[in-house]
Order: sequence, then structure tokens, then C-alpha cells
Amino acid sequence: ASPRTSGKALAGKRALVTAGPTHEPIDPVRYIANRSSGKQGFAIAAALAEAGADVTLVAGPVALATPAGVSRIDVETAAEMAAAVEAALPADVAVMVAAVADWRTDGAEQKIKKSGDAPPTLSLIENPDILASLAANARRPALLIGFAAETQDVMTHAVVKRAHKGADWIVANDVSGDVMGGDRNSVHIVTAGGIESWPSASKDDVARRLVARIADALGASV
Ligand code: CTP
Ligand code: CA
Repeated sequence: ASPRTSGKALAGKRALVTAGPTHEPIDPVRYIANRSSGKQGFAIAAALAEAGADVTLVAGPVALATPAGVSRIDVETAAEMAAAVEAALPADVAVMVAAVADWRTDGAEQKIKKSGDAPPTLSLIENPDILASLAANARRPALLIGFAAETQDVMTHAVVKRAHKGADWIVANDVSGDVMGGDRNSVHIVTAGGIESWPSASKDDVARRLVARIADALGASV
């Protein structure tokens, strides 16, 4: 651990992290999902716990081990994730890393069969925005951080998302390359003060650097 995190900068603080994708059932055997390995979110939960925070990690379906010292709540759908986030409050800081599926279907009770005719049409319903709801919550965490995965105009979209969702910071990453599922990430931190671009680093290092910044923002002394 870095000198900063080994000093337990976040002792006594409560942190909430969402990570991974959500799965929205189409029928009992099929689902809609976003691409997300969960690695960056799990790394952030681990770094927060290393820094002494009391961490709740709300995780969509991922193939990752629970980081040491972290309380993990597994969910599948966006609706379940939203409920788990609400139940985990209050928190001093929330880091919403999950790649929440934007749409769900009504979910057929029985497996949809190929009929030999035209393929079925999926009618999509927009999922609740967990980050935006948290921003408007009476128990809004003092520091609310969103992520933005973009394939183009990364910083422009991130600035708009920050304002639109009511987050304090947006961590923007360009996912047009091999970020998805990989171990490295290159991000831009969008705050009220402007945009900071961090050099490409391992997801663990990005997590530790973000946690150091969270500790500063929460006024924790080292
Ligand atoms: N997010 C959320 N609930 C949703 C959708 C997104 O909490 N239903 C959160 C993500 O966890 C992330 C941030 O909002 O922290 C941005 O997600 P993103 O998918 O980039 O933004 P959207 O607003 O969904 O816009 P779009 O997918 O159209 O770019
Ligand atoms: Ca989205």
C-alpha cells in the first residue's frame, strides 16, 4: 500500500461502490447486459477498504473474488442494484462504477421459442438511473462519484453527464480501445474545478489514486 493508504485515511468513513454489469432477463434463459468485467469497481472497493473505510460493494454478475474487508451484496438487475444501494445508505462517499443496463424488457415467464417466422421484437423499458436518484436522495453521500464509459468525445460527454446527473465527480474512460476486461485504464477526472487527465495505469493504481483523492476531499488527515 502507498504511504497515504497505509495511514488508514478513511477510518470511520462509510463507502458504497457499485460494480459490474447488470443483467436484465428477456426470458428465463436470455438477458440484456452491458460489457463490464467489474475489475475497476472491485479495485476501488479494495482500495477504499485498504484505506480503512467501511465498504459496501453492490456487485452485478461478475467472476471476481470479494476484496478483503469488503461487504459484498450480489445483485442481478438494475432494479435490484437500485434497492441494494438505497439499503446501504447512509454513506460518506459513493462510487458508482457499475455498467447498469439502460433498458430492460418485461421478461417473459417461459422461454421464448423460435417459431420459424420473423424473430420476436423486444420492447424496451428504460431502467431507473441509480446515480441520478442517489444525487436527489435526502441521504445523498457527501461525495458522489460517477463513471462514464464513452467511445468518442469522452470529456465532452463526461462534463455533460456530471451536470445532468448531479454527481460531484465523473471518472471518464475511453472504452474504444482494450479497456474492457483488461487490467489497465486511462481516465479523466471531471470535477467542478475542471478536468484532470491521468496517465494510463493499472486498474489497481487508478483505484489507489482515486481513493487518495477521495480522502483529501473528505478532509481526512493522513
Ligand atoms: N448509471 C446508473 N444507473 C443507470 C445508468 C447509469 O447509476 N441506469 C451510472 C453508472 O453507474 C455511471 C454513470 O451513471 O456511474 C454513467 O453511466 P453511463 O452509462 O456512462 O451514462 P448514461 O447516463 O446511461 O448515458 P449513455 O449510456 O447513454 O451514455
Ligand atoms: Ca448507460
